[in-house]
Amino acid sequence: MYQGTGPTDHEGTASGDGAGRCPYSEDGALALHRGGELPWRQLRERHGGLVPVELGPGVPGWLLLGYKENLQALRDQTYFSADPRPWRSTGSPARSGALGHDGAEHQRLRAPIVEALAAVGTAQLVPVVERAAVHLLGRAAADGSADLIGQYAAPLPAMVFNELFGLPDEYGRLLADIAERSWSADPREAADAGDSVRGYFRGLVERKRREPGEDLVGHLLAHPNALTDEEAVEALSMLWATGHEATTHLIGNALLKLLEDPNVWTAYLGGTLTPEDFIDYVMWTDSPIQVLAGRYSTMDIRFSGAHIRKGEPLLFGLASAHTDPSVSRGGDDAMALAGNRSHLAWGAGAHRCPATAFSREMVRTAIDMAVDRLRGMVLAVEPADLRRRPSLSVHGLEELPVWFTATGERTERQEPPQERGPMRTWIRRRRRPVAQGARYQAPLSREGGREEAETVVAVPEPKRRRAPQGAGARYQAPFAKQEDVPDPLDRLLATWTPRG
Ligand code: HEM
Repeated sequence: MYQGTGPTDHEGTASGDGAGRCPYSEDGALALHRGGELPWRQLRERHGGLVPVELGPGVPGWLLLGYKENLQALRDQTYFSADPRPWRSTGSPARSGALGHDGAEHQRLRAPIVEALAAVGTAQLVPVVERAAVHLLGRAAADGSADLIGQYAAPLPAMVFNELFGLPDEYGRLLADIAERSWSADPREAADAGDSVRGYFRGLVERKRREPGEDLVGHLLAHPNALTDEEAVEALSMLWATGHEATTHLIGNALLKLLEDPNVWTAYLGGTLTPEDFIDYVMWTDSPIQVLAGRYSTMDIRFSGAHIRKGEPLLFGLASAHTDPSVSRGGDDAMALAGNRSHLAWGAGAHRCPATAFSREMVRTAIDMAVDRLRGMVLAVEPADLRRRPSLSVHGLEELPVWFTATGERTERQEPPQERGPMRTWIRRRRRPVAQGARYQAPLSREGGREEAETVVAVPEPKRRRAPQGAGARYQAPFAKQEDVPDPLDRLLATWTPRG
């Protein structure tokens, strides 16, 4: 996924470092690498269905603005390839695994992912999401205030994935911590986190080859397409990269919609707006991915009035497509958009997200749990003071501070305070609402207590390999030697210093 540097919002009215600078390069291309706002409506009015861009100095590309252009490039595999390898020298964005292949090779890499996700199914997924939600919300419940991104929407998918991968919770906390670091503004910290993610998935594949299980990774590895270790690591890293951040911000953006619009809140809780329709509404109006890289033209073509040369990268402007007047007749109204599934937030065509049902279920459950557990939840700041992630690609909040009815109970064993970057100043802090009674406090505090006791990250003893049962003495020496080699996942956990 292309990570830009400039903050933008739904209709591109955000401010940011790039504000005030000319957005165009000398040859008239929109210089995406300079950051700054992307005013979608004006871009469409000025350029039509697509605009020439500069991805980096001297690296040309195209940003698709129209709904029709985005859909066509998503679906067409003759003129538009997802495979970046022939064009690497152009400095174009990287894609890997199934995402970076076409045709039969794409199908070979995609099928194990699709089938492993299908094997999880919602019956298995929902209780896993609920457990993670209870754990995270229980930790916040005593205070009556929380940042629903840092304390909930970001760690939740990490804990869910980790459990579906068949690993104990301490690895889920590790993964959540790595994820938080990978979004760091410090490039070194982010790069180190990237290496650790890779280490996590390498260790996971190695362990699951050794100890296969009936979990998502077990299904992936057992698939008849017989992925190599390297391909399995690639598949899982890609699944994580595409899934985690988007899910976090879909949860965050959805919770914000509920919190800032009482009509939406009432319609959702009252059942007039079904969870399906609500999620589609968020996808239309506040999709977590607003720009996505992309495709490469396989030949010189004329496309929507522009001359695109062979090998030039194309970026999908999903946020622009969703506000294209040719499809956005319902405007921003939740009820008018209800039932309209034709947004492009999950992609389209051969690479369409294989995890739509999975993500919908995870997000729906996460929202319901937060609404149910954090009684009297309201925004703790004015909506205008919420900060968006400084990314061209991802559309999500830095934080989502809320107040709710505190349980008031402290547990005996407190986790050390988490360091979450520099102190935040929320300019127009809202007044805390009056407590809404004690009837919800007992269950929350009980769960909070139970979960809190588990929050200290234990550094385990290195995992020992088991000697084969009944093997004679002649096998013992080599195995005894291997016992000293710690499992790579345990090594990662043992050497990891949690934040704070
Ligand atoms: C809100 C959450 C999500 C959104 C908005 C989203 C969106 C997308 C989009 C737009 C694509 C198509 C990319 C393209 O055509 O170039 C895609 C592909 C993909 N997504 Fe998702 N996704 C989400 C969650 C997930 C999750 C949770 C997983 C894994 C469990 C996942 C796994 C994948 C994979 C493996 C692909 C590549 C499919 C292929 O190339 O055949 N996604 N996703």
